[in-house]
Amino acid sequence: MMKLIVHDDYEAMSAAAAQWLVDRIRTRPAMLACLAAGSTPTRAYELFVEWSRRTPELFDELRLIALDEWGGLSAEDPGSCQFQLRREVVAPLGMNERFLEFDGDAPNLQAECDRVADWLSRHGPIDACVLGLGINGHLGFNEPADSLQPHAHVTPLAATSLGHAMVRDLAAKPAFGMTLGMADLLNAREVLLLVSGQQKGPALRALLHGPLTTAFPASLLHLHSSVTLICDGSAYAAL
Ligand code: GLP
Repeated sequence: MMKLIVHDDYEAMSAAAAQWLVDRIRTRPAMLACLAAGSTPTRAYELFVEWSRRTPELFDELRLIALDEWGGLSAEDPGSCQFQLRREVVAPLGMNERFLEFDGDAPNLQAECDRVADWLSRHGPIDACVLGLGINGHLGFNEPADSLQPHAHVTPLAATSLGHAMVRDLAAKPAFGMTLGMADLLNAREVLLLVSGQQKGPALRALLHGPLTTAFPASLLHLHSSVTLICDGSAYAAL
């Protein structure tokens, strides 16, 4: 079941997303939250962190796992997911030891994905999974393909992904992405998908009105029993 909620603007969408996360911690204080990087959830994370200042005790047991990473980018690289999530969430919440991330700079990317997959098999499933929508329908780096991978894996990146603002200006583009797999996302107890901006309009339309297909990985979310899709007016207006 996909529940669609439309808010007027990015700010209202972000406030609703932060509230969604806080509501989940209230019911499950030790929840494992999966966090996407990218521009869409930035303000939601900021508001989430503000909640932690008001009610710090609520965040004592929270656990986090990163959704994906650019292969070859280290935690010190401002374009990496690690850099963003550490700066926006992990550091302000002061929770380094309860955060699992892909090390994009690991010598063996597949071994690094195996490490994440092994951790998730022991500490999962994800309770609350925060996702952004790629303009090509990707979730994390589960890129459109004839088949999709269930668990954490290394994957070639689509051309549209390499045009993403996080890596667009890099001289040496990442050759691969590392990502949780579709089964990891579909096994999450609850999913929050955030969609903002008119450039996401066509992808939102494909998600809501298109077929269920691995050529558009986000469409597989229709198989999940509890997806909340929050979008802003400019994404929705393009429908
Ligand atoms: C990126 C990342 C995802 C992100 C998505 C949307 O390539 N791999 O984790 O959710 O694409 O990004 P944005 O929110 O910046 O549009």
